[in-house]
Amino acid sequence: MKDFDSNLKYNNRPQNMNGFEEGVEFLPVMNTKKVEKRGPKRKFIFLGVVIGAVLLSLTIGLLVWHFKYRNASMQKIYTGQLRITNYPFLDAYENPSSPEYADLSAKVIEMLKNTYQGVPDLAPHFKQCNVTAFSEGSIIAYYWAEFAVPAYREAALEKAMSELKVKTVYLRHHSLLSVDSLVAFPVDIELARKFRDSGRTFFLHTKTGDVTKFSTSGFPNSPYPANTLCQWALRADPDHVIRLNFKTFKMEPCKTPYGDYVMVYDSLTAVEPRVLVRLCGSYPPSYNLTFLSSQNVMLVTLFTDDKGKHPGFMAEFTQVRKKKFCGENLRGASGVITSPYYPAHYPPDMECVWDIQVPENKHVKLRFNMFYLVGPGDPINSCPNDYVEINKQRYCGERASFVVSSNSSKTMVRFVSDKSYTDTGFTAEYLSYEPSNPCPGQYTCKSGSCISKMLQCDGWNDCRDFSDEDSCICTTEQFRCKKSQLCKPRHYVCDGVNDCGDHSDELECKCPEKSFKCGNGKCIPETQKCDRTDNCGDGSDESDCGKALITTCTDYIYKCKNNECITKNNPECDGEKDCSDGSDEVATMCNCGKRPYSRKTRIVGGVNADIGEWPWQVSLHIKNGLHTCGASLVSTTMLLSAAHCFQDEPAIRYSDPSVWTAYFGVHDQNKRTGNEIMQRKIKRIVAHTGFKDHTFDNDIAVLELDSPVTLTDFIQPICIPDSSHNFPVGKTLWVTGWGATTEGGSGSAILQKAEIRIINQTVCNDVLDNQLTPRMLCAGFLSGGIDACQGDSGGPLSSVEMSNGKVYLAGIVSWGDGCARRNKPGIYTRITKMRDWIKQHTGL
Ligand code: ARG
Repeated sequence: MKDFDSNLKYNNRPQNMNGFEEGVEFLPVMNTKKVEKRGPKRKFIFLGVVIGAVLLSLTIGLLVWHFKYRNASMQKIYTGQLRITNYPFLDAYENPSSPEYADLSAKVIEMLKNTYQGVPDLAPHFKQCNVTAFSEGSIIAYYWAEFAVPAYREAALEKAMSELKVKTVYLRHHSLLSVDSLVAFPVDIELARKFRDSGRTFFLHTKTGDVTKFSTSGFPNSPYPANTLCQWALRADPDHVIRLNFKTFKMEPCKTPYGDYVMVYDSLTAVEPRVLVRLCGSYPPSYNLTFLSSQNVMLVTLFTDDKGKHPGFMAEFTQVRKKKFCGENLRGASGVITSPYYPAHYPPDMECVWDIQVPENKHVKLRFNMFYLVGPGDPINSCPNDYVEINKQRYCGERASFVVSSNSSKTMVRFVSDKSYTDTGFTAEYLSYEPSNPCPGQYTCKSGSCISKMLQCDGWNDCRDFSDEDSCICTTEQFRCKKSQLCKPRHYVCDGVNDCGDHSDELECKCPEKSFKCGNGKCIPETQKCDRTDNCGDGSDESDCGKALITTCTDYIYKCKNNECITKNNPECDGEKDCSDGSDEVATMCNCGKRPYSRKTRIVGGVNADIGEWPWQVSLHIKNGLHTCGASLVSTTMLLSAAHCFQDEPAIRYSDPSVWTAYFGVHDQNKRTGNEIMQRKIKRIVAHTGFKDHTFDNDIAVLELDSPVTLTDFIQPICIPDSSHNFPVGKTLWVTGWGATTEGGSGSAILQKAEIRIINQTVCNDVLDNQLTPRMLCAGFLSGGIDACQGDSGGPLSSVEMSNGKVYLAGIVSWGDGCARRNKPGIYTRITKMRDWIKQHTGL
């Protein structure tokens, strides 16, 4: 590894230290003469002085305008690359202190100067230029050039720069430089200045079979330096591309506009039109941060601000042979296609064509399972940058699985990536089908997708094109939405959630004038709202009353330690001191519910959780080593789980703490060793004495660990909500666990997650034959399909609080009638009703 920094000083002339600032020129001496001409006349001295003064100031004003606003020259720096075709590449060109490097860069500088001198819009403004690197592929030279141009000539300069062309240039000493593809892009002056002051470049060249590593300085034990701009120029042999992989990426959380961030370029110069990706924050280890270049070079830059010094990143790169062809002629009846190098980010500047032909008498359709072609600021509809094109239709952005069918046996898929910003790409399978019967035994959507016949006319857009819900006749059990015309289950009417999307299912349930509509649909006189009495029965009339300090609390009003009552929605740990004694914001209570890896991730395969996404999720194993129940970490020594997990059976004494082992930081049940994972024995189990095994009422237990766990990025406690915490009907929550993925099925090795919604208690009780007690919370979908299941019990129902980003334990997986059945949502232990019991047994 070599570090080199002399050629990075864009401006090293001492007289021009402020050269990067927009220049303000002072009036030249000559101008005072102009002023003197307006000297006094003999007779009207006084008048003369006055007129003179007026004229003087006018002139000065004019001159200031002329020089400051019209003529002030601004600095423009371009960086770019050009290709030299009449010299062979020498290894010495990668060494900036070699004589060969010096010789060739002198030639390039001379050529650039000559070229600029020949263009009227550039010649007068040109200041200096330099070469920053060479790479192989004939020879690519990377350079920068500086200009100082008056504002009103800037556009002309920009135009001239973008139109520059060179072919063969004759230089002094009879040498000759043949150049093709000369490009130049303007650089951000601020960044250039920062680079001049503190920039540093490391040059790395990898060889076949080598894995070349680099990282932020001090990684991982000491913080990376503040206020730096660091770059790594990565090179590979000709006919190869670079495959860069960030093994660890943990930087300061993303901040706009700056903060700490990393840029990856498909070039050796840092220019926006060649950006592959901008990275900041932390990525979980399972996120595939692999990028490919289009040529044999890549540039990685690191910008750090004055604070926030996290472990940093560790990356490695290898060279892979450049693909000559991309795409294929496919002649089988079915198969799979993916974007190049999937699941790595596809390379820029690519075009692939798949020509698919299935047997003559069949038709072909494509099902895209993964589809990520997202660029920053891409317009949603027109797909101008990266796209997949099928039958003249372009697809781009991030899309849920979709089907494209063709009504012949042939189809053509074209994938195009432009020169900047790449993404994970796509996977798709192509299938052949009988034109007369595209979905045997199933319903055929207009798009060609096949769905279960049961899903037709159920009020849900299962086809994603509404074709399964088109022209349905609603049954007596259903309600017709006004706008969408969907047939929704009658249970949804007046449940406080806008299920139709047009509010029509909640319209007819309007309360009479001067009354308030409760969260559960009940109507109460408006005067009862915020009167500190729970008139609704679900507290919704008292939960959102603005902030006020009052003296009588109710179940739905937050009570401070000093007995003050705060009528504010969920005031605990929201970052604002609401109680005069500050008891709503004590650090010990608020140090919870944090997710070190909280970015939205994309995992191949749907509902797998991400590593570190649910750091309070605990796996409880019994003696034989099998995962049996879930639990949630609430402090370094305490877990919450379901009481029904600890009821003795003839064969096993589940209530005996010694049969259990708790695992923390687990993602995959088959990988329960490793740095992230911790295990503890259980010292004490306290199941709620009110637990009834025929009703599952009070289904909660506290488990105490034999010794505290160490909190890490993968192990964190979840927040226990206050008893007044408001979880409104319709709110989305997440349930997680290693339980069965289908009713009666087997558990999952990888932690699963599902997004579900809180269901109105009355509606839920209706569909579950009044089996609900107030200690239960109902969540899921009446339409079925998404639910917890056997093996998830005891695990968390997590709620992300918008006000502070913290995650609260809303419930504990308790019971259900089967799994994911229609009209049989999952039932959870309602934590808010258990708050005092939890306090009593954990001290928390
Ligand atoms: N009792 C089950 C267990 O022991 C959990 C059932 C949850 N079921 C449901 N459909 N939500 O794992």
